[in-house]
Amino acid sequence: MKVSLHAADASRAADGETSFMDSSQAQFVVVGPVILLGAPGAGKGTQAKRIVERYGIPQISTGDLLRDQVKRETELGNQAKAILQGGGLVGDDLVNAMVADRLTQSDCERGFVLDGFPRTAVQAGWLDGQLQSGDFSRFGTLKTMPIVARMDVDYNQLIRRLTGRRSCPTCQRIYNVHFQPPRVAETCDVDGSQLITRNDDREEVIAERLKTYDAQTKPVSDYFASQGKVVVLDGDRPMDEVTAELFRLLDMQAGRA
Ligand code: AP5
Repeated sequence: MKVSLHAADASRAADGETSFMDSSQAQFVVVGPVILLGAPGAGKGTQAKRIVERYGIPQISTGDLLRDQVKRETELGNQAKAILQGGGLVGDDLVNAMVADRLTQSDCERGFVLDGFPRTAVQAGWLDGQLQSGDFSRFGTLKTMPIVARMDVDYNQLIRRLTGRRSCPTCQRIYNVHFQPPRVAETCDVDGSQLITRNDDREEVIAERLKTYDAQTKPVSDYFASQGKVVVLDGDRPMDEVTAELFRLLDMQAGRA
């Protein structure tokens, strides 16, 4: 029998009804696939990094993978560069192939966090097919069912978060000049690197990215919602509150036989 996470689980989790598992235990449990949905700036990357730290499963960010391809000037990177700078989406086939390749790596054995993927209905259908095909039988039947969490955030807050975002080019830590500033301005707390602003975090590109999200990525949430799989979180809350709710959801999923 398949068991899905649903809104009732989320509200139980938010009420703190299900206690956290020990953090050392969390490093060994099978979590399965976790899909973080939400508009640009919703906090997907921030929360994915916290999940990585607690559960020891990898973050698979298609945005990071694409930016790496651009930096290395690969064929894919050269094709993707202008699309990223304009706030549009890279083609489904290219992105699906990139994700397929990443999912074969052994660090995905207990699960993985998808951040920024799937982003179109075609990508969602492809991923669903992969998960149902038995390729992920290593998770056990129940855990091939992904945890799909969508973080909803007010439009003006998204703009403020994106225009204030800075990141470390060395350790990838994310900061925000308004909400999570580094101790020394424009400098990474961890390794002292000069922080950078993403090329697509300019206001005109942000507007395009948000339009693209509305037109092409909202249907992804509808796709999973029609299967009763989407848990909607209030992403406007402080980071730690969102993290606590996500950890409870993942603990519940990992605790299921
Ligand atoms: P991608 O890198 O995925 O960017 P995105 O989806 O636009 O998301 P962001 O990384 O901007 O936001 P986030 O939700 O991770 O927020 P974060 O945690 O950083 O994609 C970039 C581009 O690549 C796309 O435009 C597209 O061209 C291409 N691409 C990627 N995937 C693709 C795909 N699957 N198919 C086709 N093309 C693809 O937080 C933002 C800021 O807010 C930070 O400063 C953070 O500190 C702060 N913050 C976070 N949470 C909170 C909180 N609760 N309270 C206050 N501040 C907060």
